[in-house]
Formats: sequence, structure tokens, C-alpha cells
Amino acid sequence: MAVELSLLASFVSIFMAHASSARPPHIVLIVADDLGWNDVGWRNPQMHTPNLDKLARNGVILNSSYVQPVCTPTRNCLMSGYYPYHTGLQHDVIRGNAPGFMPSNITTLPQKLKEVGYVTHMVGKWHLGYCNWKYTPTYRGFDSFMGFYSAMEGYYNHSEGDGYDFMFNTDVYYPPKGEYSANVFAKRAIDILNAVNPKNESLFLYLPFQSVHDPTENRDKPRRAFLLVSMVSALDEAVGNITTVLRERGYMDNLLLIFTTDNGGPVIHGANNLPLRGAKATLWEGGTKGAAFVYSDTLLKKTKYLNTEMMHAVDWFPTLLHVAGVTADSNIDGLDMWPTLSENTPSPRKEFVYNIDEILKNAAIRVGNYKLIEGSPGHSNGWYPLPTEADPQSKAPAISEEYSHEAIISSEPQYQLFDIANDPTEHFDISKKYPEVVNQMKQRLSEYKKSLVPANYPPPDPKSNPKYHNGTWSPGWC
Ligand SMILES: *[C@@H]1O[C@H](CO)[C@@H](O)[C@H](O)[C@H]1NC(C)=O
Ligand SMILES: *[C@@H]1O[C@H](CO)[C@@H](O)[C@H](O)[C@H]1NC(C)=O
Ligand SMILES: *[C@@H]1O[C@H](CO)[C@@H](O)[C@H](O)[C@H]1NC(C)=O
Ligand SMILES: *[C@@H]1O[C@H](CO)[C@@H](O)[C@H](O)[C@H]1NC(C)=O
Ligand SMILES: *[C@@H]1O[C@H](CO)[C@@H](O)[C@H](O)[C@H]1NC(C)=O
Ligand SMILES: *[C@@H]1O[C@H](CO)[C@@H](O)[C@H](O)[C@H]1NC(C)=O
Repeated sequence: MAVELSLLASFVSIFMAHASSARPPHIVLIVADDLGWNDVGWRNPQMHTPNLDKLARNGVILNSSYVQPVCTPTRNCLMSGYYPYHTGLQHDVIRGNAPGFMPSNITTLPQKLKEVGYVTHMVGKWHLGYCNWKYTPTYRGFDSFMGFYSAMEGYYNHSEGDGYDFMFNTDVYYPPKGEYSANVFAKRAIDILNAVNPKNESLFLYLPFQSVHDPTENRDKPRRAFLLVSMVSALDEAVGNITTVLRERGYMDNLLLIFTTDNGGPVIHGANNLPLRGAKATLWEGGTKGAAFVYSDTLLKKTKYLNTEMMHAVDWFPTLLHVAGVTADSNIDGLDMWPTLSENTPSPRKEFVYNIDEILKNAAIRVGNYKLIEGSPGHSNGWYPLPTEADPQSKAPAISEEYSHEAIISSEPQYQLFDIANDPTEHFDISKKYPEVVNQMKQRLSEYKKSLVPANYPPPDPKSNPKYHNGTWSPGWC
């Protein structure tokens, strides 16, 4: 009996040792809001982001990682692996007073990760629907959620318009008065890191910060001339505090960290996308080419270089599932980029859809080196210089670059063609020179359009009004 027991014990301990070495890696997915291509220290000496720079330089800086022009659609890509034109989220963002949502038949990234036992936590901005509880994070695969539902709010008062928007799981939550959201979120992330045991559990931590979306509000007196610089520094400090704890607690032995923006920078709020053309909410590269990197102590075979392989936000879904050892549905839009990220092998992605918006009547696709734009790319069509003390708003266009609700009337040609490999800054429309390429690209775009799911862009619903929900933006009205 005793022999049997000790045999059993040694069998169990061998099994445990094996199980623990094969434990799926921790995944930390950090999303910055409205961070421009050039608003990071590893590109622009005006910015002060020592923690992010160190991770980026010791990891893999992504130089061709595309995102959607605005917020909700990119978050949809991350959580679903589908292009927004396949989930009805291709137009604008989900407005706080309108009953929009990511369809409930989507199996989300955290739901898939739970299949292999991940603990899943979310800290930050959701923006994928909240009019019914079933659309909110803790009903969509997250064990816990602290953060807000909508597009934007005050960094200190957590309010937008007439309503308060800050939750801890399914309860309204009031962080200590006067605490800046980057600090609130970093503190919550650290609480999670202290509660999880990195040796016997696999953590998925989704950290979509409020930083650096407008309102331009900073914690202290701006350290430099412009508010955005110090807002980005607060984000950097939060990431620094979190990575310190990741290291102290022993997560780093088996962890993949992803950092990405959700869209290009809004130049009207002082963001900068140079040398790229355009800004947030446009189909130009300045709206869609995202600042991003991956970092790991142990999982990347090749590090400390610039990866120029093409990828799109939909690709994170199958890529992270690969890392976790989970099979993704074959009908999603995303492609597994793991070999490309880990070893710099050629990307499996040769083309992608920037967006198809049947309400704005615009679209863009990339095939190989070529990019075709149909209709107007948006309102901010220039190359906007770095902000200066005299002009902290970076010579912003007078017109807001937020999406308008109607198709953009424009004098631009209906089709524009760019060779992104040779002209990444979109200075030369070559549609006249290569009409046959334009025709092939139009053909390809019309094939993509066949699977378009019409935009679910409902009008505002008065039932959303915080006055019916004790002063909060709260579920329960759809
Ligand atoms: C979700 O439902 C819609 C509408 O019925 C359908 O077109 C779509 O294929 C479904 N998506 C998934 C991932 O099941
Ligand atoms: C919250 O803060 C924002 C940004 O400072 C401000 O615009 C807004 O009026 C404030 N809202 C409330 C309810 O105090
Ligand atoms: C991991 O270990 C901790 C403490 O040793 C324990 O409380 C927890 O239940 C374990 N979790 C799993 C999933 O084994
Ligand atoms: C980072 O940690 C330091 C030291 O604890 C703290 O003073 C600071 O407020 C933290 N910053 C953020 C953004 O959490
Ligand atoms: C990285 O991207 C920028 C902006 O599109 C481009 O100007 C640059 O040439 C790219 N670098 C490489 C090595 O491809
Ligand atoms: C309503 O909100 C106030 C704070 O504004 C809070 O103290 C109170 O508990 C809330 N009431 C309910 C029923 O949630």
C-alpha cells in the first residue's frame, strides 16, 4: 500500500512537472488609445517613453501592423478575429447613447483561451457594446473587468456628458477621488498580477488603456510644452510599473507582451503620424498603420529588429491562440502570424481590407505592394508637422477628423492607387499610370464586398440616458 502510494505520488509529481513546463504562456495585450505612429520614443525624440522604448528595442518593433481607422472596429478585430465589415461594425464607433454591439454569436478571444484554462482579466476601455449585460466583458469571457464601456471620458471624473462610466465587474465603481485613469488601471493590473499564481495558472490580461484619447488631461503640470507628451509618459510609466511586477512575480519566464495602438493619431489633439499621410478616422496610412511591438524574454526566436512583414489587427486572434495552443475557427479573417513574429519568416498575409463602409461610401484594400482607395479617404488628408510650443495642435485642419455621419463629399478621384512599398507616405496617386492594376484591384474589392454584413449603426436611444440609470451609462435598455 505504502509502495503504491509513493509510486502514485511520484507519478503525480512527474505529471505535474510536465504539466507546468507545458503550461500555456501568459499573454498581456496592451492597447493604447489614439496613439499616433510618431508618438512613441523609439521613433520621435520629442516623446519620453523609456519603458516602452526598452521593451520595443529588446523585442520586435512592428513596422507594418495595420489597424482600423477608429476605435470600436479595431477592438472588434482583437476580440473576434473578424474584419468589422463582417460583424456590422465598419461604420464609425458605437456611440454611448446608441444600442450598438459586437454580435453575440462571436466567440471572443478570452472565451477561446478559457478552453485551455486561462484566467482572463480585462482592465480599461471596452467600447464593444453595453446596452444589454450580455454584450459586456464579464459575459464575454472575462473573469473580471474594471474600466469603462464607452469611447471617452474625463481621466479623473470618469464621466462623459451627463453620465458616469466606470465599472468593477457588474457594479458601478468609484476609484479614489482625484486618481488619474492610467494610475487606476495600473494599480488594478498589479492587483491581478499579485492574485494570480504565475507558476500554476496561465494569465490573459487585456489592458486597453484610456491613454491617450482626448480630453487632453494630464496628472501634473505638463513636463514639456504639450499635454500629449506627458499623457504618453503617464502611459509609459503605467507600463513600466506593470512590467516591474511581471518580472518580480516571475511571469516573464513564460510571457508574451503585445503593445499596439487602436488607430492612427488624431492631429487635432496634438497627435502626430509623420511621415505618414492622414490621421485617425481616415483610410490613409496615418490612420491605419499602427505603432506596435511584441516583447518576450523567452518565446521569440529572433529579437531586436524591425519586422516589416504585413499584418492586420484581425491576425492577433489566431496568433495568440496559436501561442496558447488553441485552434482558431477556420472561417475567421485573421491569419496566424506566429512564425513571422517569432522568426521573421515571410508573412502569410499578402492582402487585407482597410475597411469597407457602405454608409461613408468608401473602402480601401491592399494587395501586395498596391493600395486601392475607393471614395474619400476622410477629412484629414495632409502630412501634419510635429507640434511646436507655438502650435501645440500641430496645424490641425479646421474640420474635425472624427467620422461624419454622412458620406464625405469630396473632389478627390473616385479611385486612387498607391504603391505602398515604394511610396509608404502616399505622395503619388498612380491610378492614371496603371489603369489595369486599378481594374484588378476593383475586381478584388468587389469580391470582398460580396460578404459584407450591413453596418449595424442604430440611432441614439433615449432610454440610454443616465437619468434613468442613477446617473450612469449602464446596461439594461436593449
Ligand atoms: C452570426 O450570425 C450572423 C447572422 O445570423 C451570421 O451571418 C454570422 O455568420 C454568424 N457568425 C458567426 C461567427 O457565427
Ligand atoms: C469630467 O471631466 C471632463 C474633462 O476634464 C470635463 O470636460 C467634464 O465636464 C467633467 N464632467 C463632470 C460631470 O464633471
Ligand atoms: C495554484 O496554486 C495556488 C497556491 O499554491 C492555489 O491556491 C491555486 O488553487 C492553484 N491553482 C491551480 C489552477 O492549480
Ligand atoms: C508607478 O509607481 C510609482 C511608485 O509606486 C507611483 O508613484 C506612480 O504613481 C505609478 N504610476 C502609475 C501610472 O501607475
Ligand atoms: C517602416 O515604415 C515607415 C512608415 O511607413 C516607412 O517609411 C519605412 O520605410 C519602413 N521601414 C522599413 C525598413 O520598411
Ligand atoms: C446611485 O448613485 C449614488 C452615487 O451617485 C450611489 O451612492 C447610490 O448607491 C446609487 N444608488 C443605487 C441604487 O445604485
